[in-house]
Amino acid sequence: MVEKIFMDQTVIITGASSGIGWEMARQMAAQGANLALAARQKDKLTELADQCNKLGGKAVAVPTDVSDPKQCRALIDSAIKAFGGIDILVNNAGTTMWARLDEITDLTIFNTIMQVNYLGSVYCTYYALPYLKASKGRIAAISSLTGKAGVPTRTGYSASKHAMVGFFDSLRVELRGSGISVTMIYPGFVDTGVQERGFGADGKPLGINPLQKNKIMTANECARLSIKAIAERRREEVMTLRGKLGQWIKLIAPGLVDKIAAKAIEEGK
Ligand SMILES: NC(=O)c1ccc[n+]([C@@H]2O[C@H](COP(=O)([O-])OP(=O)(O)OC[C@H]3O[C@@H](n4cnc5c(N)ncnc54)[C@H](OP(=O)(O)O)[C@@H]3O)[C@@H](O)[C@H]2O)c1
Repeated sequence: MVEKIFMDQTVIITGASSGIGWEMARQMAAQGANLALAARQKDKLTELADQCNKLGGKAVAVPTDVSDPKQCRALIDSAIKAFGGIDILVNNAGTTMWARLDEITDLTIFNTIMQVNYLGSVYCTYYALPYLKASKGRIAAISSLTGKAGVPTRTGYSASKHAMVGFFDSLRVELRGSGISVTMIYPGFVDTGVQERGFGADGKPLGINPLQKNKIMTANECARLSIKAIAERRREEVMTLRGKLGQWIKLIAPGLVDKIAAKAIEEGK
């Protein structure tokens, strides 16, 4: 089991100020990890670092906008300065959208989503890689079931999550024999509020949550499953029964997966 596997391991988590990243930080802190916590909201990171220190870990808050490569480099430098090495990088920072292409009036949505979800992961991984090679460490990336299949209202988001898959699946092959594992995480809907903060058609935060909160996974459970997969150096963790079955159905009846994806968005679960 994963008990205490993260003791004294240095972990960088991007997107730690909320949701899945927040829960992963708390769970890893309880196992004695050293944590470099990254996101843009400094006050939330500081609050989380305090919690992690009380839970048994050691944590530093490193305000970072992952769409800026210089800030990603500074994040890696801060982790090295605080803890002397890096064992695990969790590329979790992300932003989303909820609008059909023909409704969109602000095309910059596509740039921002790609810069944060995809390029932010590329930058952090690039700068952390020499240290991960030295520690024979672990890389994780939080994709989404939209990284496995197309989903309506998510054109730009799904594209960014597919881009992450292409990048990290290629990197895994490059890293064969290095001792570094690359774990892709594919959550379904998770109750975090990411939808409210995501882009509506006009490029402003959607402001409402179209999901049925009581029918989707909690951030706590998503974090638990993600951490277990990272601990076990698994290639991937596909969450939910729909996600697990969907990848097999797609091979023989891809049109059925389209119908399932459309229904999931209509029903918000
Ligand atoms: N919730 C779901 O249904 C779901 C499903 C599948 C996959 N995911 C993925 O899971 C990951 C975490 O999402 P979540 O649901 O936990 O959402 P969340 O609660 O909104 O958290 C997103 C995190 O990303 C950070 N972030 C956003 N833009 C950033 C930037 N430019 N630089 C640095 N950090 C940035 C946010 O912090 P700041 O605002 O402080 O920067 C926040 O900490 C994302 O990659 C998301 O795509 C979520």
